[in-house]
Parts: sequence; structure tokens; C-alpha cells
Amino acid sequence: MAREQWKSQLGFLLAAVGSAIGLGNIWRFSYLAYEHGGGAFLVPYLVALFTAGIPLLILEYGIGHERVGSAPLAYAKISKRWEWLGWWAVLFVMFGIVLYYTVVIAWCLDYFVLSFDLGWGDDPNGYFFKRFLQVSGSPAEIGEIRTPVLAALAVVWLINWAVVYRGVQRGIELANKVLMPTLLALIVVLVAWSLTLDGAGQGIAAYLEPDFSRLSDPKVWIDAYSQIFFTLSLGFGIMIAYASYLPRRADITRGALLTAFINSGFSLFAGFAVFAVLGFMAQAQGKAIGDVASQSIGLAFVAYPKAVSLMPGGNLFGALFFLCLVVAGISSAVSIIEAFVAAMVDKFGVSRQKLVTLLSVLGFLGSIVFTTRAGLLWLDIVDHFVTHYGLVLVGILECFVVGWLFNLPQLRRHINRVSSVRLGGWWDFLIKLFVPGVLAVILAGDLVNELSKPYGDYGWAAVILIGRDWLLLTLVGAFVLACRPWRTGSHEEGGRSDA
Ligand code: ALA
Repeated sequence: MAREQWKSQLGFLLAAVGSAIGLGNIWRFSYLAYEHGGGAFLVPYLVALFTAGIPLLILEYGIGHERVGSAPLAYAKISKRWEWLGWWAVLFVMFGIVLYYTVVIAWCLDYFVLSFDLGWGDDPNGYFFKRFLQVSGSPAEIGEIRTPVLAALAVVWLINWAVVYRGVQRGIELANKVLMPTLLALIVVLVAWSLTLDGAGQGIAAYLEPDFSRLSDPKVWIDAYSQIFFTLSLGFGIMIAYASYLPRRADITRGALLTAFINSGFSLFAGFAVFAVLGFMAQAQGKAIGDVASQSIGLAFVAYPKAVSLMPGGNLFGALFFLCLVVAGISSAVSIIEAFVAAMVDKFGVSRQKLVTLLSVLGFLGSIVFTTRAGLLWLDIVDHFVTHYGLVLVGILECFVVGWLFNLPQLRRHINRVSSVRLGGWWDFLIKLFVPGVLAVILAGDLVNELSKPYGDYGWAAVILIGRDWLLLTLVGAFVLACRPWRTGSHEEGGRSDA
């Protein structure tokens, strides 16, 4: 069966941007900037973008395009021994990240509806934690399922199913052609509106005036690198699969640069809306900017609703904000599912439609644990382990496999043959030594923090059983899948640059 293909290079770009721009760009980026010295955070963020983000994005596009395969197939074509690495990435995103990611989209959908009559009342903090999520005392106290979240979750999975079921061109490409312009329009309205609020200037000043003293804290750098991984969907296996659907002639480096710049530009732009609203809140409540939000989740679901309640026409503003999150989230969620679907279709030749239906049901069922009263706590632990260890480890290993086991100059020549922006030998140096070196340092720093006390004070048992073992379980699954025989002959075909 012929491999599916994007209809146009623009369609590919929109889908890749759709994957990159997600929940992470709006609340995660803004919160990190808020916590780590405002504009000063842009320094490690941009350093991470240029030293790791862009080189790795080029690598993922490059091997997806040259090897013509999803992550497991691309690695299997490099070395059969490393096929598991591709499976691990697509497994922990499909049975890890997307399970809680869709739950956060479900919260946004609920909050979109709540916005119309400011349903969170006078105390958004109490509403979010005590009434909406009814967060339990510890991860072990699972408690009952929160039905409003479950209902919204069903809608989210239904949309995911409808998009991925229809395939690359008629599903993902078409959806992004609608979702991305919608997202752009929404964010422009939100930023313009937020800049007119009283106190907005104070918020923007906090955003742009850097506190450079924060840069000596290693945590700021660790967070910047993991944010770049998350935001560019690196180590997810997504960009490899997306690039494998490109035709023979496709501009890889330009695509990577455009994806990276549009994605970070979006984050920086959205940051104006978030900080202007924080400034407005600070002024309305007579507080300092640094005291209006307390934690990352709180920024979107507590601080924002509070601000929305205070501003004229706030309900419409709130609805637009949460709609923006839903749109950004959906286009990323479908890309995660597609990374896994592509892998299964490549290896086992299964029917896309049947697989997507099965995965949507399994995904919905798997997400349910995050809709329980302990859901927020589980989400926090799984997210921490998957993004800090899973993604970073995949990043290091992909540099090793492609940099040292594959013919890197051959890959670079292939990329240069089809691209307008040419790569020099410096790219080889970045992939072989620099990027894995930096990532290894980041990983070591993270591990030192990790071993000093249980993450988030949840207790060792919860952190080990939920966080570490989640990753280990998907790793076992990866080895099992890698050992299964190929049902298609795809792994025997060479790459596009093999003579
Ligand atoms: N890249 C996606 C995000 O930032 C996963 O949310």
C-alpha cells in the first residue's frame, strides 16, 4: 500500500505547527516565565531553542524523511537493535502524555462552558481544587470519577477519533487548516483585548524586564530545556512520522526553522495576554505581580478565572481564552495519536480505521484515572517523569543512534539536497557531542534533585510506582513490540539517499 502523503508542504507545516503549539505554549511557557524571572527566562529558553531544539527538530524531520518511516521503522532501518527506542517514544506518549493531556483539554472545555456565566463564583481557587476536581489528600486515595470532567473527556476523544480516523490528508491536514487560522485569530483578539485592561502595562513590564539574577539557578536551565522538548514535540516520535509523509522533494531545514520560529513566536505573543491579565489582576486587587498566581495549573484555572470575573465583558474573554486552549490542545493530541498509529501501520500493516477506533476507546479508558479525585496528583507525577526523563532520554539516545551508528554526513547531504537552508559540519558536532552532552548534564541535574527528596512531596512509594514504573512499563512494552516480526516489508526498504 502506498504511504500516505501530505497534500502540500503548507499542509505539513500547519500540521507540524499544530503539534508544536499546544497547552504547553500558553500556560506552561507563561508560568515558567513568571516563575523564572520574567524576560530573563527568555535567555535560557532561546539558548535551549538554538542549541538543542532546532538541531534536533532538523534531525527528526531528516530521518523521518530520509528513512521514510515512523519512529520505530526509521530506527529499525538504521539498526534493528534500536527499533525499541522508537517504540518507547510512541508508547509513553500514547499511553502516558496523551492520557493526561486530553484530561487537561477536558478541563478547558468545561471551563469554556463555565465562562459564560462565570460558574466558578467568587472563589476560583476553592472552586477549582475543592469543587471541580475535589482533589484528594494523596495519590493513593483515588476517590470517585469527576463526571463533568469525564463528559468533556468523551467529547475530546470523539474529536481525536474523528480527525485521526480520516487519515493524513483528509483528517489531520484538513483539521489543522481550520484549527491553526482559528487559533491565530483567537490569540490576536485575546492579546489586543488584554492590552486595553487597566494595569496591563505593569504586567507587560514584569514580562519584559528581566531579573537576570535568576539565571544562576540550574533549575531555570533544566526547565528551559524540558520546555523546548515539550513545546517542539521532540522525542515524541511525532515529527519523525510527520516528515515521513512528505514527498521526495521537501524543504527540511526551512520547515524546521519555520516550525520552531512560529511555535516560539506564538508562545512569546501569548505571553503578552497572560502577563497583561496578571497586571490587571495585581492592580484590581492591590497586590504585587509576583503574588497573583501560585502554581502552573493555578495560572490558567485560578488566576485567569479570577481576572475574568473582575473585567468588563469577562465572560466572553474567558470563553475565548479556554477555547484557545482547547484548539491548541486538540491539534497536539491528534499528532500524538498519529505517531503511534503510523508506527503500528508501518510494522503490522493494520487497518488505520480499526486501530484508531480501538486506540480512542483505550485512550479514553486510560485517561479515566486522571479524572478521579487523585487525577491532578497522578497527572503531576506522570508528567514530571515523562517530560523530564522520557523525552530527554529519547533525545540523548536519538543523537547517539543517528549521530554515531548512522552515517551522519550522508543524512546531512540528503537534507542539503532537498533543502534551501544548508547545514554545515557544525550540525554534526551539535548532534554527535553538544546536544547529548547538554542533555546529559540536564538529566544528571534532574536526577540529583530527584534523589534528594520525593518529587512534589508525594512520598517515595507514589513517585516510584506512578512515575518511574509508568516509564518502565512502557519500556517493557517497547521491547515486546520491537521483538515481534514485521508484517510488512517496509523495514527492508532502504532510505531515500541509499544508492
Ligand atoms: N507540543 C505540545 C505542547 O506544547 C505537546 O503542548
